[in-house]
Amino acid sequence: MNMKRREFMGWMTMGAIVTSVVGCNAETGANSDQEETSNEFQVIGTVDELEAEGSLTDSTTGVIVLRNAEGELIALDRTCPHQSCAVSLDDNGETLTCPCHDSQFTLEGELVDGPAQTDLTNYEVKTEDNEVLVKV
Ligand code: FES
Repeated sequence: MNMKRREFMGWMTMGAIVTSVVGCNAETGANSDQEETSNEFQVIGTVDELEAEGSLTDSTTGVIVLRNAEGELIALDRTCPHQSCAVSLDDNGETLTCPCHDSQFTLEGELVDGPAQTDLTNYEVKTEDNEVLVKV
């Protein structure tokens, strides 16, 4: 009788350990998923919209997608590295300009003229079917 009680207590202890280990792993798994989600491609719009409008902007991510002179897709963070205003594509379609202090950038996000001191942040971009996806 006493032996059975010990066995029972042993199994209970083992169960508690297993439960806590599985719980930790499940929690770690959830955190991994969150990290992966932030590195996944997000749909910014459609290829049809991009072709019709010349660029796509997404207010949630702050991204602009456009084509450079060679027709390659470019995705940039619109946040100006000077004081964080949002840059826009100029009417000529050849440069991006910041409305606050007129910093200018190429369509690849390279700084042309300050006061900004660095390029715009560039993101990976691709298309799948008719969707434009950016890894932000
Ligand atoms: S915030 Fe863009 S140039 Fe100043």
